[in-house]
Amino acid sequence: MSRKLHIGLSLSPTWLRGSAWRDTDSGVEHLLSPRFAIELAQHAERAKLDFLFKPDSLFIEPKGLEHAPGMTSLDPIVQLAGLAQSTSHIGLVATASTTFVPPFIVARQLQSLHWLSDGRAGWNIVTALDGERNFGIPAMPSTEWRYERAAEFVEVVQKLWRSYPADAIKREREAGQFADSQSVSAIDHHGKHFAVEGPLTLPMHSAGPPPLFQAGASPTGRDFAASLATGIFASTPDKAAAIALRQDLRERAQRFGRLPSHIKLMPGLGLLLSKNRSEAQDRFRERQRGLDLEPRYRFIENSLGVDIRTLPLNAPIPERLVTGINPNARSRTHAALLLRLVQTENPTIAQLLARPEASGSGHWQVVGTPLDAADAICDWFAAGALDGIIALPASLPSLRLFLDETVPVLVERDIFRKDYTGTTLAQHLGLR
Ligand SMILES: Cc1cc2nc3c(=O)[nH]c(=O)nc-3n(C[C@H](O)[C@H](O)[C@H](O)COP(=O)(O)O)c2cc1C
Repeated sequence: MSRKLHIGLSLSPTWLRGSAWRDTDSGVEHLLSPRFAIELAQHAERAKLDFLFKPDSLFIEPKGLEHAPGMTSLDPIVQLAGLAQSTSHIGLVATASTTFVPPFIVARQLQSLHWLSDGRAGWNIVTALDGERNFGIPAMPSTEWRYERAAEFVEVVQKLWRSYPADAIKREREAGQFADSQSVSAIDHHGKHFAVEGPLTLPMHSAGPPPLFQAGASPTGRDFAASLATGIFASTPDKAAAIALRQDLRERAQRFGRLPSHIKLMPGLGLLLSKNRSEAQDRFRERQRGLDLEPRYRFIENSLGVDIRTLPLNAPIPERLVTGINPNARSRTHAALLLRLVQTENPTIAQLLARPEASGSGHWQVVGTPLDAADAICDWFAAGALDGIIALPASLPSLRLFLDETVPVLVERDIFRKDYTGTTLAQHLGLR
């Protein structure tokens, strides 16, 4: 069977970013409305997408809210549990950080979502970028510490999922046996970060464990992903970066005794689409003009350790000021993308500020027609730069054009499914 593309749709309201929420057709009124999210989920399901993907943040900056909704959002598990009731096939991938809350809670919430969606839950494992002060932690722990805790966290969650197997339930009315208690057992985990007795309070769904996703591409993050994740959400602004990352993750997976084909690199893809290419480009330029630069200056300062606010816009950052990544950067992945751009392209500061790498996103983007998007996806797919994408629409019309016009072209070109062949997320991802 030929390799097939996987498509996720981000539920993070990327179509409200920057000044985009001010567009008359932005739908900002529906930011927290259940009806709107249901319509979106059902639309994505009609297009036979693999999954809905809910990023998350456990902190918010009040100052930023003056000009944009930022990370104003519903809790992923709660939102996806709601959407599970209005959909029947599409996967539901919830982001849950391993840095702040106990693994027992996350294991239970995800397994509950798995039951409520009949086997469609997935877990996007993040180590988080901020939010420590909401959990009584005075300073963000180092990346190394966070990944070490994440590895043990995932181990505990997986043990808990297995602690109460699906087939333990017998429901023998005559004999009065609800479950075979012998097969439900404590996990008695005693590690560096956690002590958890178990078992979990609900059984594993018969679909098997929720598939794992990961985001974070520092060397430690890559090893973590390669050791356990199926889907990897990545920021890859260009094809060469994506090919290199995919190749590296596949090699690392082999070192962990996994098959390279079990790793699915899924770059985020920003989409600003219009039926007419020049109209899309005009809209993109308009957006660039309306950019609030302060968050970008702050991101550059945090990533590279240089304040460029007073430097001339028409010249590059002087070479002597860029010595490497700030060791305390919030995300080494995003800092590395920014450094790579500065060192390889030497852009003027004006050019730099206009690039997605300067926004802390660094996602690949297509500005053009639905067909342009299909062509770009096919090109990257054929080049071995991706196994799938996570769509990040830049406007609601772009979202609709992507689902109604780009996806059908991918079906026509036989790289994407015409219909679901299974009902669980693991089946959509070709795992079972
Ligand atoms: C593409 C991408 C998406 C991410 N999404 C989230 C998210 O939704 N929530 C979150 O708390 N952290 C998110 N992170 C942060 C990572 O989980 C991780 O904490 C951070 O990137 C630091 O790890 P690194 O040094 O490997 O980059 C994301 C990171 C990347 C690269």
